[in-house]
Amino acid sequence: MKLLVTGGAGFIGSNFIRYWTVNHPDDEIFNFDKLTYAGNLENLKDVEKNPKYTFIKGDISNPDKVKKAIDGVDVIVNFAAESHVDRSILEPAPFVMTNIVGTQVLLDAALKFKIKRFMHISTDEVFGSLKLKDKSKFNERTNYNPTSPYSASKAGSDHLVRSYYFTYGLPINISNCSNNFGPYQFPEKLIPLVITNILEGKKVPVYGDGLYVRDWLYVEDHCRAIDLIIKKGKIGETYCIGGLTEDINNLSVIKKILNILGKDESVIEYVKDRPGHDRKYSIDWSKIKNELGWSPLHSFDEWLAYTINWYKENQDWWKRVKNKEYIKYYKKQYGSI
Ligand code: NAD
Ligand code: DAU
Repeated sequence: MKLLVTGGAGFIGSNFIRYWTVNHPDDEIFNFDKLTYAGNLENLKDVEKNPKYTFIKGDISNPDKVKKAIDGVDVIVNFAAESHVDRSILEPAPFVMTNIVGTQVLLDAALKFKIKRFMHISTDEVFGSLKLKDKSKFNERTNYNPTSPYSASKAGSDHLVRSYYFTYGLPINISNCSNNFGPYQFPEKLIPLVITNILEGKKVPVYGDGLYVRDWLYVEDHCRAIDLIIKKGKIGETYCIGGLTEDINNLSVIKKILNILGKDESVIEYVKDRPGHDRKYSIDWSKIKNELGWSPLHSFDEWLAYTINWYKENQDWWKRVKNKEYIKYYKKQYGSI
């Protein structure tokens, strides 16, 4: 089988490519990536010499480049996106261009070349926010209610993907997953930012009261879920994917990291809240469990300890990522802390 993985140089895409080369060594993988600030070929150093793997530099919103890359491909796995909420608040335009226009360009090419499956990777943020006291969780029937330019652009892409199934019969699947964490995550996102800041002796910025709740999913558990959907998922269906966390808030996550790294809470710095900050996400993943037999392999605490260790052992990787461009973004976002 030939797979075109878009955004394969990013966090989840690179973990997915590594996962796929190990678990399906006969398949050919084409990694199509624009290499934005978040795309990093160093994430795939151990894969680049694999004869079944090819990198193509390209933008998913460029129809000619996309058509050339898709010819002969069986499955498209679309990870390519602008993915950070805070950046979408600073500058929404690239989010519309890549997440909406780019997805539509991919869909057109997928139709033209009769792709066998279009696997679209989306987010639980399209559902908006739960209230802290809510016992309910997001599921495949939850209405869309996005609140940030990022989540609105992902919602737009999901609607387009579904429309190509209903209108043209394109064989699609969509997955809406919760917050991923693990190796090779860009340190603009909470967990790698906290770990690397602590390792550098810096402050840890906490938005608002820190009582926001996320549902944490280890990246390799996510990759296994996508594999199952590609192999056994019913065409046209959506699957929600989440982790093994019970309503854990950001402060508790940060305190766990401080505890594992043997640091006290004096490094915590409360900063201005994110505008439109969603209070809580929580995923009901019973559909993918019951239909495809998926569940996370380990608890949040086990995967968190493993992840912290990875960042301790791979300081060269994240020190190179925290480059001049990163520092410029950090100052803009956090001021002088
Ligand atoms: P990331 O920001 O780490 O990586 C995104 C990748 O896409 C980068 O390699 C980047 O270069 C590439 N890219 C961006 N614009 C492109 C374009 N126009 N053409 C081609 N490539 C382009 O993101 P991630 O965290 O790995 O997320 C991957 C996908 O999963 C995204 O679609 C995101 O919305 C979704 N998702 C992420 C999370 C999470 O917690 N990280 C949770 C739910 C859903
Ligand atoms: O839910 C899935 C989504 O998870 C994905 O679709 C997004 O691509 C991904 O970025 C992530 O979005 P969040 O906004 O939830 O993730 P982030 O790591 O930015 O923030 C997690 C929580 O931590 C959130 O409540 C905001 C808070 N936070 C974040 C940062 C970066 C802080 O308190 N301080 C920070 O410095």
